[in-house]
Amino acid sequence: MQVKDQTISYFKNKASKYDLVEEQAYWQLSDKLLWDCLSTILNKLPKDFTFLDAGGGTGRWSEKILENYPLAKGYTYDLSEEMLNEARRKKEDKRLNNRWNIIQGDLHNIKLIENNKVDIAFNFHNVLGFVKNPEKVINEIMSKVKSGGYIVSFVPSVYHAIFFNISLGHIEEAKKASNKKGRFTAEMPYIHLFTPKSIEDIYIKNSIEKEYTLGFPAFIYPGYQETQLEGNTEKIKDILENEEVFNTIYQLEKSFLTEETASRGNNLFIVGRKK
Ligand SMILES: C[S@@+](CC[C@H](N)C(=O)[O-])C[C@H]1O[C@@H](n2cnc3c(N)ncnc32)[C@H](O)[C@@H]1O
Repeated sequence: MQVKDQTISYFKNKASKYDLVEEQAYWQLSDKLLWDCLSTILNKLPKDFTFLDAGGGTGRWSEKILENYPLAKGYTYDLSEEMLNEARRKKEDKRLNNRWNIIQGDLHNIKLIENNKVDIAFNFHNVLGFVKNPEKVINEIMSKVKSGGYIVSFVPSVYHAIFFNISLGHIEEAKKASNKKGRFTAEMPYIHLFTPKSIEDIYIKNSIEKEYTLGFPAFIYPGYQETQLEGNTEKIKDILENEEVFNTIYQLEKSFLTEETASRGNNLFIVGRKK
């Protein structure tokens, strides 16, 4: 099966339950850190900025931006109609019609968005992992960004994938992950995995000026259950369900959000600017 068809069929079954990830304590922590990192950049933009949420899926990040930045406008672009239907529902419910443009298409060849149109383009949570050619996709995304605008990615780490598979006793999968193609569950396709250097190289090859690379969460990792959309691994939940402990871990994560700890992160967060 082609990569594109594999991705469409994988997310077809996930779409209606995808947003349940927000109920998992681990992802609440990760999302809180991701939102901090994203909003630091959004706060530097003009108030009426335009964004491209590349591989935006159910529109979780687009919706959050539009709600928190009332003059912002955005595009959510994704391959999966089923994922986008969830976003369309939110757009209706929240009356975000005139500020939210939802488009179905392939990131290897972005249609219906003019070049040099957006102030920031971001791709979050494995989008670059699932695509056939991450370098081509970054090039295509970059063409939509204004000169001086931001290109931000949040991608899965090779090192974490090796650790995760070893922790479950999946040694063959850990070996495969070391070759930068891996997976976290048996039912998912193999996806691209990145090191800080390999994602930075993709930016450099596309003449994007790298600003910084971070990696997080760096001190608490998801268990098997957090690779599913529902349920919590008991140990992770036990730790994070205490609000005080959650906040302490969040503060620890924040205080070590530097390039030095990037390689420890479950996911890598890279920020670059178009020249
Ligand atoms: C794990 S989901 C992440 C969704 C969203 N970014 C988030 O953080 O909630 C990955 C998304 O990438 C999309 N995707 C994968 N390959 C794509 C491609 N070639 N073109 C457009 N979207 C793609 C999938 O359809 C899916 O919705």
